[in-house]
Amino acid sequence: MEYNIIELLKKRRSIRKYLDRPVEEEKVEKLMEAATAAPSAGNSQPWEFIVIENEGVITKLVDDTMSTFNKSWMSKGVPVLIAVCAKPVTVAKKYGDRGRNLYVIQDTAAAIENILISATAMGLGTCWIGAFDEVKASEIMDLGADLRVYGFVTLGYADGEGKKPRQRSLSDVVRYIK
Ligand SMILES: Cc1cc2nc3c(=O)[nH]c(=O)nc-3n(C[C@H](O)[C@H](O)[C@H](O)COP(=O)(O)O)c2cc1C
Repeated sequence: MEYNIIELLKKRRSIRKYLDRPVEEEKVEKLMEAATAAPSAGNSQPWEFIVIENEGVITKLVDDTMSTFNKSWMSKGVPVLIAVCAKPVTVAKKYGDRGRNLYVIQDTAAAIENILISATAMGLGTCWIGAFDEVKASEIMDLGADLRVYGFVTLGYADGEGKKPRQRSLSDVVRYIK
């Protein structure tokens, strides 16, 4: 099935229930290509992606780092967990505090969104995960001092469709200055 880009963006939903079906390696690799095609401030590309397919490591990350809500659905099975990391020092060297506190977050967010949209196009489900204990996650993945984990993405074949959330109207959120 083909979608135009706006349809694709609207089709994406957070998926919190997955089939017990592995995700093909080629698809994961394509998603990493998509992630790294994102824009980044000054083209700094500060990101690093850790693709976790090991069930034991996923379970440990879920049990030891996730919020109570995330644990409640993630413990039922997540085929792939992607940690989206970056080195804020890289961006700070070029852009100071604005690089460290803003650009690196925007860069990783753009990469995450690319993953979510591309996965939708490939018939895969995802959920952006922000509610976790960063220090514990960093320890489990042995990230070292410079690399921070900015978010996780769960990935797999969806078991059912995600629930469509309430959406604010355009007139509520857009204003024009002409
Ligand atoms: C920065 C950020 C952090 C998020 N963290 C979580 C999370 O920890 N757990 C979760 O289940 N969903 C998380 N989400 C997904 C949102 O809940 C979801 O995008 C929102 O409810 C809208 O639903 P939709 O993605 O289906 O459009 C996060 C989304 C963003 C952008």
